[in-house]
Amino acid sequence: MKKVMKWTVILAAIVVLGACGSGKTTGSSAAKESSSAETAGKLAAIKKAGVIRVGTSADFPPFEFHAMVDGTDQIVGADVDMVNAIAEELGVKVKWSDTDFDTMLASLQAGNLDMGVSGISATEERKENMLFTENYYIPKQNVVINKQNMDKYTDIADFKEKKVGAQKGSIQEGIVQSQFADSQLVAIAKIPNLVMEVKSGSLDGLVLEDKIAASYVAQNDDLAIADVEVKSTDDESYSIALPKGSEDLQAELNTILKKLIAEGKIDEFVEKNDKLANDKAK
Ligand code: ARG
Repeated sequence: MKKVMKWTVILAAIVVLGACGSGKTTGSSAAKESSSAETAGKLAAIKKAGVIRVGTSADFPPFEFHAMVDGTDQIVGADVDMVNAIAEELGVKVKWSDTDFDTMLASLQAGNLDMGVSGISATEERKENMLFTENYYIPKQNVVINKQNMDKYTDIADFKEKKVGAQKGSIQEGIVQSQFADSQLVAIAKIPNLVMEVKSGSLDGLVLEDKIAASYVAQNDDLAIADVEVKSTDDESYSIALPKGSEDLQAELNTILKKLIAEGKIDEFVEKNDKLANDKAK
């Protein structure tokens, strides 16, 4: 009888101590949360909601594209892997919103998204309306053409009076306007539609970034990358975009990104999804 009593007391003590301990942790993390919410609320609000709202335009392999995974259509890609790694660090779930690229940039600025992850180039112009993290990828510019026109287009000048496509709202619009000044710019919201126009011959060229161009060419035997040099602008590197006023989230993301980059994770994500995007074709 005595023994049982003793154990009961010990057990009760453990339970009480345990409760105190966890009570303390909850208390202190709640205090931390409210103090950071006072200084800058974005990060704390996201953690409290347990979900981060991410905008993208999933027409951009290997960074974001649709693929069948275990029988269901899903958004996959290097940006998706990166966002998942970030969400894990933050301890939150991800809510994706897949729209046209220009729509995504607009809803980001309106504050309807917590971040935009879509191979977004951190340009000086965009910095007037949104925040950017560190860069995580440096692209090059390519021109996708019909394979049969390889000999016809060997210089930007060969596109004189021709139609050259770019995604609506992308920096490629500006590149066509400045570097293909004698061509006619055709801006369309979704990249697969631009690709179709090149295939059908209603567009003569399409400016896309290197990985994306290579991916669409891998999926379409009748397309090729023209032997034409497009100059890079200074600010086309990919970053995560945030609405203004998200400085606390920006700082946190920079810490996480620096770690992912140092660990070689981003390169790993790009390589893995490059394979995935290009195999899908076969
Ligand atoms: N890097 C280019 C830009 O920022 C193109 C990005 C397009 N992204 C996409 N997911 N379609 O304008």
